[in-house]
Amino acid sequence: MSLQTASIIPSTISIYKEEKSNASLKETGFFGVAISSHLKAEFNTLQIGRQSFRRKEVSIPTIKAQTAAATPAIDQPAPEGKKTERKGNVIITGASSGLGLATAKALGETGKWHVVMACRNFLKAERAAKSSGIHKENYTVMHLDLSSLDSVRQFVDNFKRSGRPLAALVCNAAVYLPTAKEPSFTAEGFELSVGTNHLGHFLLSRLLLDDLKQSDYPSKRLIIVGSITGNTNTLAGNVPPKANLGDLRGLAGGLNGLNSSTMIDGGEFDGAKAYKDSKVCNMLTMQEFHRRYHEETGITFASLYPGCIATTGLFREHIPLFRLLFPPFQKYVTKGYVSEEEAGKRLAQVVSDPNLSKSGVYWSWNKNSSSFENQLSKEASDAEKALKLWEISEKLVGLN
Ligand SMILES: NC(=O)c1ccc[n+]([C@@H]2O[C@H](COP(=O)([O-])OP(=O)(O)OC[C@H]3O[C@@H](n4cnc5c(N)ncnc54)[C@H](OP(=O)(O)O)[C@@H]3O)[C@@H](O)[C@H]2O)c1
Repeated sequence: MSLQTASIIPSTISIYKEEKSNASLKETGFFGVAISSHLKAEFNTLQIGRQSFRRKEVSIPTIKAQTAAATPAIDQPAPEGKKTERKGNVIITGASSGLGLATAKALGETGKWHVVMACRNFLKAERAAKSSGIHKENYTVMHLDLSSLDSVRQFVDNFKRSGRPLAALVCNAAVYLPTAKEPSFTAEGFELSVGTNHLGHFLLSRLLLDDLKQSDYPSKRLIIVGSITGNTNTLAGNVPPKANLGDLRGLAGGLNGLNSSTMIDGGEFDGAKAYKDSKVCNMLTMQEFHRRYHEETGITFASLYPGCIATTGLFREHIPLFRLLFPPFQKYVTKGYVSEEEAGKRLAQVVSDPNLSKSGVYWSWNKNSSSFENQLSKEASDAEKALKLWEISEKLVGLN
């Protein structure tokens, strides 16, 4: 929901970026068309959301029923938790701010988890952990820059050397570059949003899969954070530019802008679409993991839409006017706002709540903060596309 508006507002505001001192609010469309259509959009999205989880999903049979679990259940002892007294180790990427930090805090304060904060800015992460009050013995900061595959490999080596058994991996970090006119690139030359959000996490989770397999933690989980904006079965996901991976020709070409497009579908660069495409990749990857490994390993693979967390650093690339108005707009107009704390509890639930241990699920929460198994869009649940994405991604990150 959040980026539904993020998609409406930035595209109107960014047009006026160069002339913002002359642009009235009316001119930007923020309080005019965009808001009124957004209100309708919000209402319709809720309707669609309710209908969508009632429908049966054909291609992903696991995404069917709905369950409800209240958000604060994370600190209730799991029945299987009785088998072991030791803490679970959870790696959270991008735990230096926003959702990742709030999740680290929610898990850390249960005393049952040791959080490995996998962050690109060591000092920022250390300061964030301290100021949010996570007890020293409940976290470790380790360097990880997902925009460099070397850094991903280095992180995995360092983690393995730490000797910590791995109970859960949370692929949370992301970049969102909606106002970028030109593409940026990772160390290996992939377009930055897909390179970081998808390819960096793809390599990380593949390299850590054996650690999850080998760990004797009773309920092992690999979670990849998704988004409503990648799901075109919602109104939010239908706000242009829509996610669309096409036939993945740009990805197959390396997303480098030299001999291939920087966009997965082979089209012109669009920063907002690149983010949405990367989220589709995240959700497809989770399901491909589930199909390949759940039965054999018992690991739970899951994704989620945590809600609209309008205050996080995700919107840092937006113009100041957007950043000023987006949180109150979500809070008081759309009422789709979720605090970082609440979103952190939701993700922590997906990491540790025994009620959310089902694999292959894309979790969402209703207005009462009860979780339910949501349905993914046709593209985000396309098993053939997931397989193709997996195989191309393997080649790009050097696993094949
Ligand atoms: N905010 C929302 O409304 C919303 C809605 C749906 C889904 N989500 C998802 O929630 C997740 C977290 O987003 P957020 O809203 O919490 O945004 P955020 O506050 O900007 O957090 C993003 C995190 O990713 C880290 N990061 C960025 N590039 C990285 C890299 N190359 N290597 C390692 N870490 C990197 C950032 O590190 P630095 O601190 O160093 O910048 C930051 O810690 C994302 O997957 C996003 O798609 C958010």
